Amino acid sequence: MQPETIKYNIMEDNPFVVSGHIRPEYFCDRKAESERMIKLLTNGNNVVLKSDRRMGKTGLIQYCFDQPVLHDNYYTFFVDILHTTCLQEFVHELGRTVYEQAVPRGKKVVQRFVKALHSIAGKMGFDANTGLPTFTVGLGDIERPEYTLEEIFGYLQQAEKPCIVAIDEFQQVTKYPEKNIEALLRGHIQQIDNCRFVFAGSERHMLEQMFDSRNHPFYKSADNMDLVAIDRGVYVNFMCQQFEQKGRTLEAEAAEGVYDLFEGHTYYVQKTMNESFADTPTGGICNGGTVKKAISNILAANDYFFREQLSRMTIAKKMLLYAIAAEGTASQITSANFLKKHCLASASAVQSAMKKLTAEGLVTQEEKKYRVSDRFFALWIRKMQA
Ligand SMILES: Nc1ncnc2c1ncn2[C@@H]1O[C@H](COP(=O)(O)OP(=O)(O)O)[C@@H](O)[C@H]1O
Ligand SMILES: [Mg+2]
Repeated sequence: MQPETIKYNIMEDNPFVVSGHIRPEYFCDRKAESERMIKLLTNGNNVVLKSDRRMGKTGLIQYCFDQPVLHDNYYTFFVDILHTTCLQEFVHELGRTVYEQAVPRGKKVVQRFVKALHSIAGKMGFDANTGLPTFTVGLGDIERPEYTLEEIFGYLQQAEKPCIVAIDEFQQVTKYPEKNIEALLRGHIQQIDNCRFVFAGSERHMLEQMFDSRNHPFYKSADNMDLVAIDRGVYVNFMCQQFEQKGRTLEAEAAEGVYDLFEGHTYYVQKTMNESFADTPTGGICNGGTVKKAISNILAANDYFFREQLSRMTIAKKMLLYAIAAEGTASQITSANFLKKHCLASASAVQSAMKKLTAEGLVTQEEKKYRVSDRFFALWIRKMQA
């Protein structure tokens, strides 16, 4: 008997993008949100954009930046500061981003940038042989971060077009060891008059503290946008259309099932549909069975990673995590009922375990409700416990 051959879609894009830039034809909806964001920015407002992780903040910002009204009339910059832990790193990341996004705009723009940044000018410029721009600024070269920061803002201030700077995971700055970082940044941002900002982040309560409490420097300095799941009907339509455009059929009930399973949470829907699409040959039909198999493949691929996460957890944390995964969305986690149902030791033990789980990002809290942040992890735990 011939072994079964696997057919790969070599010539075709998978229309369900899960990393990197999303081409407009593969970008689902966000019409109202992008209009709102563009309107705010082009009318002189800053925006604070909040949502759960992997809901689509970065995607939305990039989509807005790609729209002609912003693309043609502004210089746009996107800085992700998730990994930064001090001002020096923040300045390094901002400097690198501004430099990199200056390069495609031509030699003159780069020259102006190099000139503006006296403090690190020796580490940037043009290669004598190739003529190509070079940037060899290391973290250690940022010896006086406050000064270099001032220079970067100075450069933006005199750029020949107005600028939009998006800072992703902005709440990170509150964790820096330096004092008065918020005041320092707010000072620069307030002074610069040709630059608007998008402050994005997934740690809602931290952003709220920064922007909604009176005694913080950023108080009321930006308009709030809360990004929620894409509308069910719109998303289901999008999924079916993507299959259709590539000569395949996606059964609407299967699409609805995926949407409901993940409550429309963008990344999990996209990842499941990416895998399901890959498993559907041209001319084929994707149904509930295809999707189920796709999810099972995704969970299997993450098996080691999930086990490894569990291996680093105390039994108290683990049991609470299992309890939350079993509930899907859990509330009243310190009630006698909940403790008894899930064999948890005591209300105080649950409280301290929960503090750690949320701080580590493993559990997401919204109002008084909790769920496992990674929805695939939640499914994996449920399957393992079944
Ligand atoms: N409107 C959209 N249509 C299709 N895929 C999207 C859309 N928005 C985001 N995605 C995808 O969903 C995932 C999560 O989006 P991302 O923007 O990284 O979320 P966040 O920045 O909120 O963590 C990514 O894989 C991205 O490619
Ligand atoms: Mg993001």
